[in-house]
Amino acid sequence: MVEEFTSRLRILVIHGPNLQLLGVREPQIYGTTTLEKINSSLHRLAGDLGVDVDILALNGEGEIVTEIGAAAERFDGLLINPAAYTHTSVAIRDAIAATGIPTVEVHLSNIAARESFRHESFIAPVAVGQLCGFGANSYLLGLRALVEHLRGLER
Ligand code: DQA
Repeated sequence: MVEEFTSRLRILVIHGPNLQLLGVREPQIYGTTTLEKINSSLHRLAGDLGVDVDILALNGEGEIVTEIGAAAERFDGLLINPAAYTHTSVAIRDAIAATGIPTVEVHLSNIAARESFRHESFIAPVAVGQLCGFGANSYLLGLRALVEHLRGLER
């Protein structure tokens, strides 16, 4: 019998600036769940879904651009909370467009319901989709959505 080889999907998760402060940062907006807890939930869900995740928390725009530039070689998809760079970064948008890596954008808060400068996302037009407003659960819903999207592409 021929052995079937199916490789596991590899997902890169990037947390943008200030998200390392979750838990103490404006809890009325972002809740009290820490980044560590979000990361363990992501690892647990990844296990359930049968995918591998690598998680990075990066405060610098250039660092994020560099990681996305290298990601297409090593990862099948990108789950990103670009945080404040969502609303400012042509460079992150260009990195996603340039690599063509399938990307899901997530936010804890509902950015459409906040200050007007948060209403525009530079990332959304180059993402597969966006999940926001569900607190820490936005990440888990986003991971499921990305994996289902990638598995759909494989079919
Ligand atoms: C955020 C929303 C952004 O507007 C903000 O700058 C953040 C966090 C969120 O997850 O709700 O840093 O991305």
